[in-house]
Amino acid sequence: MADRIIAKRDEFLRTQTIEHDVPAPREIPQEELMRRVPRPLRHVKFIPVKNLVFFSRNNPPAFSYETKIKIPLPKDKLVVQVRNVALNPVDLKIMNSYTRNMNRGVGFGREYSGVITEVGENLHGQWKEGDEVYGLFYHPNLGYGTAQSSIEVSPSKDVILPKPSNVGFQAASGTLFCLGAAFNILDDLESKGQLSEKANILINGGTTSVAIFAIQLLKYHYRIPNKLVLLCSEYGAVFLKSHFPDLCDELIFVNYVMSANHIHKPLQDMINNREIISYDAVTGQPLSTPYNGGKFTVILDFIGGYQLLSHTDALLAKNGAYVTTVGDYRANYSKDVYNAWDNPSANGRKIFGKLLWAFDYTHFHFDPNAKYVSRNDWAEKCAELVESEVVKCIIDKVYDWKQFEDALDYLKKGHSHGKVVLDVEKF
Ligand SMILES: NC(=O)c1ccc[n+]([C@@H]2O[C@H](COP(=O)([O-])OP(=O)(O)OC[C@H]3O[C@@H](n4cnc5c(N)ncnc54)[C@H](OP(=O)(O)O)[C@@H]3O)[C@@H](O)[C@H]2O)c1
Repeated sequence: MADRIIAKRDEFLRTQTIEHDVPAPREIPQEELMRRVPRPLRHVKFIPVKNLVFFSRNNPPAFSYETKIKIPLPKDKLVVQVRNVALNPVDLKIMNSYTRNMNRGVGFGREYSGVITEVGENLHGQWKEGDEVYGLFYHPNLGYGTAQSSIEVSPSKDVILPKPSNVGFQAASGTLFCLGAAFNILDDLESKGQLSEKANILINGGTTSVAIFAIQLLKYHYRIPNKLVLLCSEYGAVFLKSHFPDLCDELIFVNYVMSANHIHKPLQDMINNREIISYDAVTGQPLSTPYNGGKFTVILDFIGGYQLLSHTDALLAKNGAYVTTVGDYRANYSKDVYNAWDNPSANGRKIFGKLLWAFDYTHFHFDPNAKYVSRNDWAEKCAELVESEVVKCIIDKVYDWKQFEDALDYLKKGHSHGKVVLDVEKF
């Protein structure tokens, strides 16, 4: 019985097969097999990046190879192959603020020059590969720096400008941060009517990089007629005279080293006695020059602390302006931390000062993000001043970026005369 059922089933299956006429599987030729690809290839590529980073203030920075720029780029971005990076005290302040090891590297450098190597789809009308550029890349909280072989730039967030052909890559890299800061400080003063032809200006830290740009702006752009009074070292005076020989008679140098902890004293004497005492470089004999400027209408303080501030009654004219980029504590690049608060008790000083001495105190903070540019078009105006050679960047030293430790040590001493620049390798 069972045999009969099995035979019937086999018979049935045979008929089914014949009825459907299923073709025998064909042998597929090799070349057809090669063409058949199960999934399409994904066109994802990366630009490899060499990146100078630190993990905390306690460990020296090192090169990292972990960053990769994914291409195709987002539509609104550019890639710049970095040629030069200029360092600023803020780089040290950012590093000083990382007291514990981070689990990711934090980058160095806020300004740069370089060449565009990739352009996002939406930016083709404005930028092209091969364009030489310089700019600011200010992302301290995200930990991105410019000391990388390539950076991904968003022109809507990061100030980026075409590099004029008359400005070299090294000078371009050191221009925008301090020029931008100086321009915005002075632009604000001008809008308050403080840069009239009667302006009598004192600069504390006459050879700081911000001051070097401020001096050029005041004399060549705002055309302030009065002499500028600069607190700087003797070497600083020689340095400024050699770079700006045409300004020799436009500047009064007061040696801060000679007066160490009472820098207000020679200034006060100058105002009260209506004469400037300087010393002959060869004989050491005192020389007297008349001074009729009176009290200052503007004090620009790029060194910080109370030394001048506590004598504003003797130094600053009524309704004068006191602007500092540093604040209540004198700058110390080895210790200062990024975005440190002013002395809380001294915050009251602003009100106190206003009531008693009637002056305008500003602790200036430069935010170079592109979204603030439209406020006064500072980036475009600075670009014009650079291109027309009204202002120039003075470079102190250039290091290969592999010598970053020497560069940082030099900057940290706080005695550079001009910008400290890194040459970035092509990677
Ligand atoms: N808040 C902001 O938005 C902002 C923006 C830019 C800069 N800053 C701050 O502004 C300060 C200046 O920055 P920078 O890059 O222009 O500085 P810098 O170029 O590093 O300043 C170095 C210069 O300072 C001079 N110097 C040092 N001690 C001095 C003193 N006691 N009196 C007079 N001159 C002195 C040195 O001259 P000698 O060697 O001849 O003494 C040297 O030429 C820094 O603290 C920086 O962080 C703040």
